[in-house]
Amino acid sequence: MTPSEWRDKLFQIKDAFLKDIGGVSPENLDALEIRYLGRKGELSILLRELKDFPIEERKSLGQDGNSIKTEMESLLAGKKSSLSPIKTQAASGGKTGIDVTLPGYPFLKGSIHPISFTVNKLAEVFMRLGFTIADGPHIEDDYHNFEALNIPQCHPSRDAQDTFYLAMKDSQANNLLLRTHTSPVQIRTMMKHKPPLRIISPGRVFRRDALDASHSFVFHQIEGFYVDRNVGMADLKWTMEAFIKELFGSDTRLRFRPSYFPFVEPGAEVDMTCVFCRGRGNRSAAVPNEKCPVCKGSGWLEMLGAGVIHPNVLKACSMDPVQWSGFAFGAGIERFAMLLFEIRDMRIFYENDLRILKQL
Ligand code: PHE
Repeated sequence: MTPSEWRDKLFQIKDAFLKDIGGVSPENLDALEIRYLGRKGELSILLRELKDFPIEERKSLGQDGNSIKTEMESLLAGKKSSLSPIKTQAASGGKTGIDVTLPGYPFLKGSIHPISFTVNKLAEVFMRLGFTIADGPHIEDDYHNFEALNIPQCHPSRDAQDTFYLAMKDSQANNLLLRTHTSPVQIRTMMKHKPPLRIISPGRVFRRDALDASHSFVFHQIEGFYVDRNVGMADLKWTMEAFIKELFGSDTRLRFRPSYFPFVEPGAEVDMTCVFCRGRGNRSAAVPNEKCPVCKGSGWLEMLGAGVIHPNVLKACSMDPVQWSGFAFGAGIERFAMLLFEIRDMRIFYENDLRILKQL
C-alpha cells in the first residue's frame, strides 16, 4: 500500500464511521465501536500498517491517523452519553434502564397516631380554658400512686392482681410500680406548686388486664384538676359540660352519677348522651326496637370519673383544705378516640396497621 492509498483508506474509514454513527441505535453502539476502534477494528488495523512505511511518511500519516482516531472516539463518547438508557428506554421497548415517564416512588410520610390526635384535641380544649400540661413518670411509687391519694391499704386496686409491681432486688425499691392511673400527677404537681393550679396530664397507664376489645394492660388517660379558693362541684360541672360539648357538639347532654373514688368527695361518674343514637337508645328512629350498638340501648355513655378533691389529698400535699379546694377528673383517652373515629375495638390502636395509621 502506498502512503496516499493509506491516507485514502483512512478517510474512507472516517466517512463510513460518520455515516454509521449518525443513525446508530443504542444497542448497536458497542458493535460500532468494536468494528472501527476495537483491537481488530478497521482503524486499528490500518494504524498498525503504518509500521511498514519509512519514518518520515510514518510521522505525517501517523498524525492524521491519530487525530481521526481521537475525533472518532470523542464522537462515540458523545453519542453514548446522549443515548444513555434513561433517554432511550421508550425506544428500546422498555427492557432496560429507567422509564422516566413512570411516576416516581412516593415518599412515605409519617402521620399522627389516633391516640396522639385525640390527646392533642383534648389538650387544645383545656388549654383554651387556661389549663397547662404537666407530666409524670410511668414508674411510680406506692406513695404517689395510692397512699397520698387516700387509697386505703386494703383497696382492691392495690392488689398484685391489678397492679404491675416492679420486682426489684433492692428491698427499698419494693414499692415501685407502673402507675395505674394519671392521678399521681395531681400529687406531684400539688407538692411542687402553689395554687391556683389548672393542670391536665395525658399519658400512659398500666393495669393487669387481659387484652380484649375494650381492655388493655397499657392504655391512656387524661387527668385534669383545678385547685384554688372556693372551687367546687359547680366548677367541675361547668368545665365538664364545656369540654364535652366542644368535642361532641352542643346538643350533647351530661349526667353526673354519684360514685366512689377514695381521692374525691363527693365523687361522680360522668355520662354523656350517646354520640351515635344521640340518646335515643335505638339504632335509628325508623327501627325503634333495634338497640344502639354503642350505648347498648341506654342512650348514655360513661365517659370519666371526677369529683371534689378529698381534704386528705390536699393535706398530703401540705395544702390547707380550709383555704384551698379543687376538683379533679380522669378519663380514658381510648374511649374518646373510639368515639371520635368510630372504632369498636381498641386493639386497633396498638397494632400499628398502616391502613389505620396513614389515615390521619
Ligand atoms: N383515677 C381515676 C381512675 O383511674 C379517675 C379519676 C380521676 C376519678 C380523678 C376521679 C378523679 O379511674
